[in-house]
Amino acid sequence: MSSNQDLSRLYPTRIDIPAEARSQIVTILNQSLAATLDLKTQTKQAHWNVKGTDFYQLHELFDEMAGELNEYVDMVAERVTALGGYAFGTARLAAANSILPEYPLDILAGIDHVTALADRYAAYAKHIREAIDKTNDLGDADTADLYTEVSRTIDKRLWFLEAHLQVLEIKAGNGAAATTSRKPVAVK
Ligand SMILES: [Fe+2]
Repeated sequence: MSSNQDLSRLYPTRIDIPAEARSQIVTILNQSLAATLDLKTQTKQAHWNVKGTDFYQLHELFDEMAGELNEYVDMVAERVTALGGYAFGTARLAAANSILPEYPLDILAGIDHVTALADRYAAYAKHIREAIDKTNDLGDADTADLYTEVSRTIDKRLWFLEAHLQVLEIKAGNGAAATTSRKPVAVK
């Protein structure tokens, strides 16, 4: 990574959180910014390309979810700048810094899009939950609160997605799926 892509870059500010803590917090936030932008575009990808008998409800659901993520992109980026950091939010930077794998380009059916998104929402939910604790430990209750708000919505959306899948997993005789989650998607 070249020095001008240092996610911890800081500008002078009068805010009372020490620079050492702020540089760690803006690094975490910039990682979240990349993952949120990535997840938003992947959710739009599903919105556009989903097919099947559930087309309309999934098309609408995915758009609602992408809209929420779009709001979080702005919230996260502006928390970076409020802390004196530089927001790394272009598409190229998001692709380079995101923890998520690329969206599968060979799927069509609604259930496959729901599964691909559930895997990615679960990985993103884990990242966000870890960020709550990390930013709390760094003495920034406001950023931890921002993450808590995001976390609550993402868990709810994971439920919406998994509600499409759980009945199939139970019907398939995979009772364990009801109590333990599937093998999680590989995270970079
Ligand atoms: Fe649309």
